Amino acid sequence: MRLSVENLSAGYGRIEVLHRLTIEVAEGGAVGLFGPNGHGKTTLLRTISGLIKPVAGRIRFGEADLTGAAPNAVVDAGIVHVAQASVLFPRMTVLEALTLGAYPRAAWPHRRASLDKVFAIFPRLAERRSQACRTLSGGERQMAAIGVGLMGCPRLLMLDEPTLGLAPKIRQELAQRIALVAETGVGLIVVDQDVDLLLALCPRLYLIEKGTVTMDIKDRSELRHQDVVERYFGSTV
Ligand SMILES: Nc1ncnc2c1ncn2[C@@H]1O[C@H](COP(=O)(O)OP(=O)(O)O)[C@@H](O)[C@H]1O
Ligand SMILES: [Mg+2]
Repeated sequence: MRLSVENLSAGYGRIEVLHRLTIEVAEGGAVGLFGPNGHGKTTLLRTISGLIKPVAGRIRFGEADLTGAAPNAVVDAGIVHVAQASVLFPRMTVLEALTLGAYPRAAWPHRRASLDKVFAIFPRLAERRSQACRTLSGGERQMAAIGVGLMGCPRLLMLDEPTLGLAPKIRQELAQRIALVAETGVGLIVVDQDVDLLLALCPRLYLIEKGTVTMDIKDRSELRHQDVVERYFGSTV
């Protein structure tokens, strides 16, 4: 199903962070979001998830109007948000945490099949299934967080800075695993600071600055022509 966010304004109390922001994600499509810190990427994902009520604008997912919908209604519609620096329950085992991810009503009957899918994408999690989450490495923890998201049978999965703080090699591995998720037909929104990584995963990128879209990149050649990478990410790309 297609996600369409139109002229969305939202923020915290009286502070407006997003100003008439518009993005769309095609059915089963992958979209990357990047931009300077503190400019509203996480706020956008939180607003789509129903954690923040928009002040203006529309959020549509397929036929459903999710503007102002409660978080559980957004999950039931098929949108799952893996938060920035996701913290799993430290004492739970990987398997327990994954099972908890299948709580959405529609996902519960499919939990066995979902678990097989998650273990196929992240074999490391299968090896670590009986281990407590607190004993996982940073990369494994991120895999587990994404796995928990996948257990909810999303049609659209939103990943907020999944590679934050990970070593380059682990980051590459995680990106390959996320690409496998995209191949299963799940729609993706990925926020990351690494534009190269986003380009490898997503045919469409949005640059978000000051709470709005300042560049809509549908073709990676556009990115080369414009010097956006040098402007913001000269050291990483
Ligand atoms: N819980 C909060 N209460 C008030 N302001 C917040 C809160 N969370 C974030 N902000 C502010 O909203 C702005 C956008 O933050 P955020 O969406 O986290 O940016 P990004 O994810 O792009 O780094 C920042 O100015 C930040 O300080
Ligand atoms: Mg953020």
